[in-house]
Amino acid sequence: MKLKQLITESVKTVSRCYPEEEAREMVFAYLEYAFGTKKYTHIIEPDYEISEDGVSQSQQAFDRMASGEPLQYVTGEAYFYGRRFSVTSSVLIPRPETEILCQSVLSSSGAERDARILDLCTGSGCIAWTLALELPGVQVTAVDISDDALKVASGQDFSEEISRSAALKPDFIKADVLATPLAELGQFDVLTSNPPYVMESEKALMRRNVLDHEPELALFVTDEDPLVFYRAVALWASALLKPEGLGIVEINEALGAETAVVFAEAGMADVKIICDLPGKERFVSFRKPKTD
Ligand SMILES: C[S@@+](CC[C@H](N)C(=O)[O-])C[C@H]1O[C@@H](n2cnc3c(N)ncnc32)[C@H](O)[C@@H]1O
Repeated sequence: MKLKQLITESVKTVSRCYPEEEAREMVFAYLEYAFGTKKYTHIIEPDYEISEDGVSQSQQAFDRMASGEPLQYVTGEAYFYGRRFSVTSSVLIPRPETEILCQSVLSSSGAERDARILDLCTGSGCIAWTLALELPGVQVTAVDISDDALKVASGQDFSEEISRSAALKPDFIKADVLATPLAELGQFDVLTSNPPYVMESEKALMRRNVLDHEPELALFVTDEDPLVFYRAVALWASALLKPEGLGIVEINEALGAETAVVFAEAGMADVKIICDLPGKERFVSFRKPKTD
């Protein structure tokens, strides 16, 4: 089949679930992943052919997208901070706004090259790996409760980049941040976390492709106690951060002030709310106070 015809048919298929423009972008992204074609290939090479096998494989992929499965789960990959991460339905798809959290750590003092960094609720490991690779020499410890997520995180293949630099592979550890004592992990210079923070009542505002396909465990907290993870993270910050150690957490944009209070009440200093590019309150940063 000609690429041109495959594009027309596939946009129609994916548009069953997405607005047409978004469907078109997804079709181009999948075709680039599967065949290496670009958005303009069918224009400059109108006779470009896709094999029968290629057509049938891509039709299956587009049917999955039309049923709401996110493109990243269909291809098994997502890009974060310029790197390709493997993803499965056991992990949250890394979101672009979480890159700001990594950027904030990289531009702050404390994340020097021999620092120890703790990432709680690591999921795909996107934060842990990004910091480990951007700061060769830092030792990152990353924690999650899900065996399947930990398998994905520790299986990310950055061996080539590691062999070119002095970067160290993060240690991935199974633990429940709400219950497991983490004191034996030692002391850290930086603590990061993007824990579950979406309230059950916010489900109504979410798109079906997120609700039906991304892991509940990664997303939701109860309306009765939406800050449960932040109270736990604040306790770990008190126990595990070195004096003047830096903490940055991603937050629910509707609960910025309340989340900041959790860290202030846990005795953290310099508690600040950081906004994302569209101006939504998206992160809270803090420092463990200096001891005299
Ligand atoms: C919002 S996802 C964040 C994933 C990743 N850090 C990111 O930014 O894409 C939250 C993660 O917390 C993990 N999680 C949920 N409950 C947990 C708990 N009690 N202890 C440790 N991890 C937990 C989930 O398995 C999920 O991987």
